[in-house]
Amino acid sequence: MLTQTELKQNVANAAVEYVLPFLKSDIILGVGTGSTVDLFIDALAPYKDRFLGAVSSSERSSARMAALGIQVFDLNQVPAMPLYIDGADEIDQGLNMIKGGGGAQTREKIVASVADQFVCIVDESKLVERLGQFPLPVEVIPMAREAVARQLVALGGQPALREGFVTDNACQILDVSGLAIHEPAQLEATINNIPGVVCNGLFALAGADVVLVSGQGGVRRLDKVAS
Ligand code: 5RP
Repeated sequence: MLTQTELKQNVANAAVEYVLPFLKSDIILGVGTGSTVDLFIDALAPYKDRFLGAVSSSERSSARMAALGIQVFDLNQVPAMPLYIDGADEIDQGLNMIKGGGGAQTREKIVASVADQFVCIVDESKLVERLGQFPLPVEVIPMAREAVARQLVALGGQPALREGFVTDNACQILDVSGLAIHEPAQLEATINNIPGVVCNGLFALAGADVVLVSGQGGVRRLDKVAS
């Protein structure tokens, strides 16, 4: 029986195999955040001379890549990327996701928006029938925290401040449990429209394009079905 860490390692290795055909001397990759992505970065590092560098969604991933000799670019210097590779906390069959367990969902959504393809890398524990067991991370401007929290309660959620955590954008995270997520894209837009919300962790308006899922039997691929 493979452990969750071994499953994450397997999908990280599979992600490198997926990425290799895209690598060229002028290519910049988008790289996400989290323990699965950490393993992906480590597995990608031996190929660092085959591509130009990466844009990262967090200070954490930037530091890890820089330490391994992968050149890190500011997104403002980069007009296009073929791929954005990142994990998820939950993903459903429509490839809608909850992200932000690491508190990086705002930059993740920004970097992903510039990439042609979002490649999500998960172990099978992240696959769900319906999103919402994992509390939804909502990044808020600190002075708006309580005002946002009241609106999240009105939407049926129970927000809890992520204690002792400050995002890379100097903001805070409310982790919202109890939301009934029947229409992920609609809820994503509704929450993002609350004044004071920087970004919430629903990725449904633009979900994943490809998912690599690591299970006991190996890594399988799921593709977004065109609507
Ligand atoms: C960070 C994220 C991560 O992708 C998500 O939390 C999954 O992390 P891990 O690979 O450690 O399970 O959204 O903000």
